[in-house]
Amino acid sequence: MRLYIHETDKKGTIEPEIYGHFSEHLGRCIYGGLYVGEDSEIPNVNGMRTDVVDALCKLQVPVLRWPGGCFADEYHWEDGIGPKEQRRRMVNSSWGGDVEDNRFGTHEFFELCRQIGCKPYICGNVGSGTVREMSDWVEYMTAEKGSTMAELRRANGQEKPWRLDYFGVGNENWGCGGNMVPEYYAHLYRRYQTFVRTYDRQAPIARICGGANADDYDWTERVFRECFREPAPREAHGYMDGYSVHYYCGAEKGPHKGSATRFTQEDYWYTLNRALGIEELIRRHGAIMDRYDPQKRIGMMIDEWGCWHDAEPGTNPDYLYQQNTMRDAMVAALTLNIFNRHCDRVRMACIAQIVNVLQSVILTDGPELVLTPTWYVFHMYRTHQGASLVPGAFAGEEMELTGDDRFRMPQLQQSASVDADGVLTVTLANVSLDREARVEVLFDEREPKKAAGTLLHGRVNAYNSFEQPDVVHEEELTGLQRTERGVNVTLPPCSIAAVRIL
Ligand code: AHR
Repeated sequence: MRLYIHETDKKGTIEPEIYGHFSEHLGRCIYGGLYVGEDSEIPNVNGMRTDVVDALCKLQVPVLRWPGGCFADEYHWEDGIGPKEQRRRMVNSSWGGDVEDNRFGTHEFFELCRQIGCKPYICGNVGSGTVREMSDWVEYMTAEKGSTMAELRRANGQEKPWRLDYFGVGNENWGCGGNMVPEYYAHLYRRYQTFVRTYDRQAPIARICGGANADDYDWTERVFRECFREPAPREAHGYMDGYSVHYYCGAEKGPHKGSATRFTQEDYWYTLNRALGIEELIRRHGAIMDRYDPQKRIGMMIDEWGCWHDAEPGTNPDYLYQQNTMRDAMVAALTLNIFNRHCDRVRMACIAQIVNVLQSVILTDGPELVLTPTWYVFHMYRTHQGASLVPGAFAGEEMELTGDDRFRMPQLQQSASVDADGVLTVTLANVSLDREARVEVLFDEREPKKAAGTLLHGRVNAYNSFEQPDVVHEEELTGLQRTERGVNVTLPPCSIAAVRIL
């Protein structure tokens, strides 16, 4: 099989934010996962777990979304500031009815982002919050000084305003965010976003409109009909900078989604087929957006995506704690390749969720930490961040199809980019469970001087546990040879490769 890389035809930039993450007050994502408090015996800096922060820094996490999810539309930010012992305690009715004591709030979130080195993305409360509450929060975070909100922030220990890059106006307002019909949400969106003020012209806040669940194109159509506005002459933007889309996949069987680790080959093909389905979603939501916004000023922000399996046996089902196998890694590899290839419209994506919830990159148990196969995919793909997309096309013998009777799919899938130093990254996934793949990668202009790569592979249901944390890990790609006009790569069955070529 040949893969032609057309470097002379560079496309747009792969925004780093495509490699973003999502954190919610849900189960052990925040408490225990990211934050343990300053008095914990688990090593921490200002309450943030050092081991987790270190592992996230290695991924170069570009953006982190918080505080939800469904939790966002019942979160009242003023409950989470000031002395911790005086903070209001609420019931987290979205996730298990736990008492949320708000010890992780706005200041802690910005501290976490500082330590990780990522941009903050805050999701505001439309479902049960007021316009004033939202506008006060933005003022609290970003106004310099003098106003009551800015002075309150300063009194709480943060002298300078924070840089807030992204603000979401509600979450899933068609469901947990208020069960709204599209027009009702659209009208609220227009109003609420008006008061997401930018106090520092040098640092505008990008406003993200709550979008559709998966293939609900009707929501997109009706929200755009009500909310789209061309920017006025001296404005960069109309009513929105981004439009959110959520998409989950897993092996759904009746009321159960299926086990994360014990699944059949049929479940594997089903899940991969679901993962590939995101491309149609991007095309069809994108086609609606194109009619209003042909210049693609508005980003599609896929700010929740990933595999949703049954919770691990013996854990609280409301905590959505699941293991993570090579199947999940394959879903991540296919999905990130698709996002790269659609970077003209997809400007942000946040995998759900960063630690201990759904398709996490990290699992923790007390002081222990495990990197999941999905962590390795994000690590292998990190050099795509900020690079220019270059088109790749398979040619030569017909692409082998694999799968089962219901779901046939190409054996190989790819994306490629070139970074500012001229280094080309090609990421390849071989989804076959029993066939290796030999790929002759050919460049239209590059005469490769150096090539090296890494590989992730293993049994499809292999995973890293606290007992055996290193079953799946990134290793050197040995099946790699440089040729005059390209490289030859051999991928074992069920594997993902990242090749760097100079
Ligand atoms: O990520 C878990 C939940 O999935 C989020 O809270 C919600 O937005 C979505 O339905």
